Amino acid sequence: MSNPYESRRLVDEYLFFHFATFAEAAGTLPVPSEAWDFPRRVVSELLDTSSPTGNALDVGCAVGASSFELARSIPKVTGIDFSAAFIRAAEELKKQGSLEATVAFEGKRVQKFTAHVPKEVDCTRVGFETGDAMNLRSDLGVFDVVLAANLICRLPEPLRFIERLADLVKSGGQLLLATPFSWLPEFTPEKNWLGGTEDAAASQEVLADLLRPAFTLEFTKDLPFLIREHSRKFQYGISLGTRWRRH
Ligand SMILES: C[S@@+](CC[C@H](N)C(=O)[O-])C[C@H]1O[C@@H](n2cnc3c(N)ncnc32)[C@H](O)[C@@H]1O
Repeated sequence: MSNPYESRRLVDEYLFFHFATFAEAAGTLPVPSEAWDFPRRVVSELLDTSSPTGNALDVGCAVGASSFELARSIPKVTGIDFSAAFIRAAEELKKQGSLEATVAFEGKRVQKFTAHVPKEVDCTRVGFETGDAMNLRSDLGVFDVVLAANLICRLPEPLRFIERLADLVKSGGQLLLATPFSWLPEFTPEKNWLGGTEDAAASQEVLADLLRPAFTLEFTKDLPFLIREHSRKFQYGISLGTRWRRH
């Protein structure tokens, strides 16, 4: 299967998901506003800003909204994604502060919009690079904060990523995980799912068992999200958001 995240359509859809205002997304329709703005909320709801936060890593950053959000309070943020097209868009946003996109409206009609990085964000704090979450470069370093939002159920081998996390987060640092556990064989062969099969425990339990040796669960929050497919069709999901503290 070719990587769907490399397509122009998905880049534009994610630019809209990450940067469109609620008014641009909903127009006059009764769209549930509490589910909009997920990439910003996943940071603002889960991050403990009272802890030392010198650097952060956003794995599976897509077009970068959560990385920019982390940079409001963190001086050095690295966003990594497997998709070169997503990273090009994120770098363009860092450089120009804005980027135009075209998304579906209805049938063949499209809606043009411009993604903007919030003016208060210092883009020089953020760097983007391509990389594979299951095989992150060995010299990446250690971080006060590691965020992986809606990533693990898109990986062929989520366990390989989970096993690397203890080495990526500094002692006392925070791991922010959000996942709707949307296991799909197109992304993750069933034998590699963390839970979700008939004879396995619930994914939430499997994940907790894997993390507990190195992390303590500090906070849990259900985080709804909306991805717009066209003006009257949205994908509504609810990610399980968790903050874990590295021992
Ligand atoms: C469902 S999107 C979530 C994006 C973003 N974190 C968010 O919350 O909107 C999954 C992201 O993971 C990226 N991804 C998929 N496989 C990856 C891998 N092996 N390594 C790094 N990123 C990957 C995709 O390119 C995509 O940007």
